[in-house]
Amino acid sequence: MSTIRHFLEIDDLDRNELTAVLDLAEGDADPVLAGQGMALLFEKPSARTRNSMELAVVQLGGHPVTLRGEEVGIDTRETAEDVARTLGCYHAAIGARVFDHRVLERLAAASPVPVVNLLSDLAHPMQALADLLTLRQHGGLEGRTVAWVGDGNNVCRSLALGAALSGVAVRVCTPQGYALAPADVARVRELGGAISEHTDPREAVAGADAVYTDVWTSMGQEDEQARRLRAFAGFTVTEALLAQAAPGAVFLHCLPAHRGEEVEAAVVDGPRSLVWPQAANRMHAARGLLAWLLGGRS
Ligand code: CP
Ligand code: NVA
Repeated sequence: MSTIRHFLEIDDLDRNELTAVLDLAEGDADPVLAGQGMALLFEKPSARTRNSMELAVVQLGGHPVTLRGEEVGIDTRETAEDVARTLGCYHAAIGARVFDHRVLERLAAASPVPVVNLLSDLAHPMQALADLLTLRQHGGLEGRTVAWVGDGNNVCRSLALGAALSGVAVRVCTPQGYALAPADVARVRELGGAISEHTDPREAVAGADAVYTDVWTSMGQEDEQARRLRAFAGFTVTEALLAQAAPGAVFLHCLPAHRGEEVEAAVVDGPRSLVWPQAANRMHAARGLLAWLLGGRS
């Protein structure tokens, strides 16, 4: 009996598998989904994830069916388990963007087909694949250093774990109270990753090859916005802060961006910004992941 592989966090892949996915992202698209579908379920808004996943499925010869959370009603209309069993009757894979990561785990436990995390409160591994692909295409991975300035959130967690699998050192700079969970830092180290924690953005960015930030208030945290705006004062990625990084350092942001909050317009729209290649790589990374997950694994 073959075991179903799910992709709920980037360390569901080992180092070699991650490299294979990134290689597939840059290769030709085999029609591994010909005549098949993929369900894409969204409990939260999305621009990049929905579009990149839909197009990746099409490029692999398949048909995406996107569903909004309220159409399905996980745990209101029917249980997460029954949603997974139902979608698994029709589709070769299920992707889901959920508020609570435990819902993804329940979908995966009941699903007869692979489940892919399209963002949860805990993790955003599809984003991390695109981030690593972008870094790999702009200077390589092994031996490089990324400075994260902002919230120790879902994007940060997946990036740190993916970096650990890729030989990229990570400096995570957050206000006190917004750091990565100690278990996540421990997991990065367990994977052999180099990670340091900071509360001073200038210290964290000094000499780094890439500077990465994300919104201060993630989807689902809207009622914390005022407190977060106060807590993150001084954590804006400015041109002056970026000037502390290595010569030629690049800027990354998963988007959506809030110019004037976590990043200055001059940075996100400036010459060092890779945010558009990074966004474009969401589709290529998605195609690579699905080709690996659903095709003959290389
Ligand atoms: N980066 C990202 O996941 O964007 P969306 O929320 O628009 O999908
Ligand atoms: N941390 C953000 C990422 C959005 C792509 C959120 O969860 O809303």
